[in-house]
Formats: sequence, C-alpha cells, structure tokens
Amino acid sequence: MGVDSSTQSCKVVIVDTDTGRIVREGRARHPDGTEVDPEAWWSALQAAIADAGGLADVEAWSIGGQQHGMVALDEEGRVIRPALLWNDTRSGGAAADLVAEFGAAALAERTGLVPVASFTITKLRWLRDHEPENAARVAAVALPHDWLTWRLRGFGPAGGSPRGPVLEELVTDRSDASGTGYWSPATGQYDRDLLVAALGHDAVLPRVLGPAEAVTDADGRRVGPGAGDNAGAALGVGAVPGDVVVSIGTSGTVFAVSAERTVDPTGTVAGFADADGHFLPIVVTLNAARVLDVIARLLGTDHAGLSELALSAPAGAGGLRLEPYFEGERTPNLPDATASLTGMTLAGTTRENLARAAVEGMLGGLGAGLAALRELGVPLRRALLIGGGAQSEAVRRIAPEVFGMPVEVPEPGEYVALGAARQAARILAEASSQAAPRPRP
Ligand code: XUL
Repeated sequence: MGVDSSTQSCKVVIVDTDTGRIVREGRARHPDGTEVDPEAWWSALQAAIADAGGLADVEAWSIGGQQHGMVALDEEGRVIRPALLWNDTRSGGAAADLVAEFGAAALAERTGLVPVASFTITKLRWLRDHEPENAARVAAVALPHDWLTWRLRGFGPAGGSPRGPVLEELVTDRSDASGTGYWSPATGQYDRDLLVAALGHDAVLPRVLGPAEAVTDADGRRVGPGAGDNAGAALGVGAVPGDVVVSIGTSGTVFAVSAERTVDPTGTVAGFADADGHFLPIVVTLNAARVLDVIARLLGTDHAGLSELALSAPAGAGGLRLEPYFEGERTPNLPDATASLTGMTLAGTTRENLARAAVEGMLGGLGAGLAALRELGVPLRRALLIGGGAQSEAVRRIAPEVFGMPVEVPEPGEYVALGAARQAARILAEASSQAAPRPRP
C-alpha cells in the first residue's frame, strides 16, 4: 500500500507486487488551510484505507505526504497545537531572523536550504517567539508523514493507542528530513545546534531511515520510511537523473533527480535529498494551478474555455504580462507580493490575450525554476509535466516554448501514492531476498 497524505486529502493505492498494477484505491478528504489538527489527517487516512478495502491482504506499506508541516508532540505523545503547514507564511519574520543570525551561505552549506516561511525550522522559531509555553512542552518534532506512519504503526498518545507514546519510534526518510532546515544532506545527520537555536531546546527527532530500510507495524507488516510528496512523485513517475519533473498543483514544483547534492546560497533552489539515495534539487512556487482558476473565473469560463482562449492568442499575449503573485511568492522570496497585469493597450487587452498571459505567467515562474537548476549545473534532458494543471491543453502546448526544452505529459495518476507503494514493494523484495537461502558456491 502506498499513501499520499496531501494538503487537501488522503489517497491510498493498493498495488499487486507481482504485476505492479493498482488493484484497489481509496480516498478521503480532510480540512485544508495552513493550520490543521493532525488528528484530521489520521481520520482521513483511516477512512481512505477503509475505502480501499482495508489492510487484510497488505504485506508492506509506506506513506508519502505534504512536506515541512510542524507536528509538535509533548512527552505523552499528544499533539501540542494544530500543525503549521508548508503554506503558512506567519514564520516569514522568523526565517529572516535565522538568516541574519547564521548567514544564508552557511545555512545553505549546512542544510541545503536558506530558510523561508515554508520550512519547519522557521515554524519552531515562530513557536518559541510567539507561544513560549507551547514551545517549552515540545518533546518531539515530526513531519506529517512521520507522524501518520507512527500512528498507523500503533503508536500515539498515552491511553489512546495500542503501542503508546514511544517517541523514539518516530521514523522519517531523507527526503522529508531534508525539508526541515535542521538536517544535513551532506552528512545525513541532524544539525542539533540549529534545532536548539530555533526551538530553544533539544527534542526527539524521527530516526532517518535509508531508502530500503524498514520498520514494522503492530501486525508485523513491513513499513517503509515514506517520503515527502515531491520525492514520492519522483519515485512514482519513474524519474531518473536527467529528468526534471514540473508539477502544477496547489504549489508549483520543479525538481530534478540528481546524483550530486546542490548548494544555492541565493535560496532559489532548495537542496533536498530524494527518497532513493540521490538528491532532489527543487524550486517551489506558490502560484500554480490557482492562477488558471482565478483568471478562468474572471473570464466567466472553465479550464477548457481558458485553454481555448489562450491557444487562440499569439505568443506573448499581445504584450500583456501577468506577474501571478496572487498569494505572495516563495521563489522568488516575496511573501507579501501581489499579482499585477502590465502591458495593457487598447487593441491588446482581449479575453484571449488575458488567458494567454495567465498561462505564460504561470509557466514563466516554473521556467525560471528550470533556469535556476540549469545554472547550478543540474543536467536537464527531459521535462515531465504532472499535476492538475498539466491537464490543460494550453499548458501542454505552451510549456515547451516557455521552458525551451522537450516536455512529456505522463498519464494522469496518483504518483505520490504510487511512489510510496513502489518503496513498500522494494522493501518487501529486499526482505524476501534476505530470507531466501543463499545459493551454494
Ligand atoms: C515543497 C513544498 C510543497 C509541499 C506540498 O517544498 O512545500 O510541495 O510539499 O505538499
């Protein structure tokens, strides 16, 4: 079983390891937003598993999920306050403070990241500064996928879970650890000095498992380390070094599987690790599929209508330019920016050009991400376009022009959940190869 616990919902796929085919699926929604009670994810996970027909025939499982969310636990394994998610920008000031204290270049070298509001470390500093009583109670810090893995393995708050609040049983993987801001992709170790600088004291952190390392659940099933959603999608879509994945969803992400770790002191490219022993340099924009939503709504049409309008306008949209910072922006780091439309003339201000400017503006942000990866020397041979936004005909046709490279659009699929399922299958395969009698010399 592979799981994708995303910002909006939980998706489960059950895959037959002999054929690689999805045999059952389930899903359940949970509240979204920027601050969510993790118990809502747990309920959605249980509902999605039930919707997929339960765990009776499942031999191994892994969970992928939204990255960076701060799940703060007390000594009894209780969640201290609602989780602050990747899209919560209140810790922008804390990010600036950490950069001022340690220096962008030093942080990039130590952790692969220059802190922005999305990363966990800034959320811990915000907690210390704004809710010191809560911060003082923090005994462990987990990420959404780590916490769900712990719960589904039977651990949880004292009194409410079969295996109890054993904080030392929290596990994570390299990809999600690399989005915290206090883990080093270079050494594979936590940077505890940074954790203490953010939170004010040390805490239990999930043990970082290698890509093929497993733990078990209460019924003895094998459990994989899981993954952050972007690394999970890379596994699910089968990306290899040279591929760059452009995912157009709630966030826009541009990430490449790379044999080398990257260090970008400007912070444009975050130097994540992947879920497979490599690295996953990534650029994340906040203004992706919703740019198309808002302009379609403004034009009184749907996505198909927007696409048709955009494709009937010339490249360059008659001079109209949409800078689509509707929700501020993360890359470039402009948390308070707003969107703007420029280049309007009497002749050029048409519905068609506005639709085209929306598509070009959104793709332009992602194209800047590709350029930043190229500048760091990441080899990019083929772009794979995934996510809801990839279903727009205009996006598919205009992307190769804006990106300046060939673009392939794989079949739509639950790539994060599928990536998690692949990880679980690999763990099962390793276990059976270890159990098999050694061939005689
Ligand atoms: C990655 C990021 C987003 C979330 C969305 O850095 O913030 O892609 O993982 O789930």
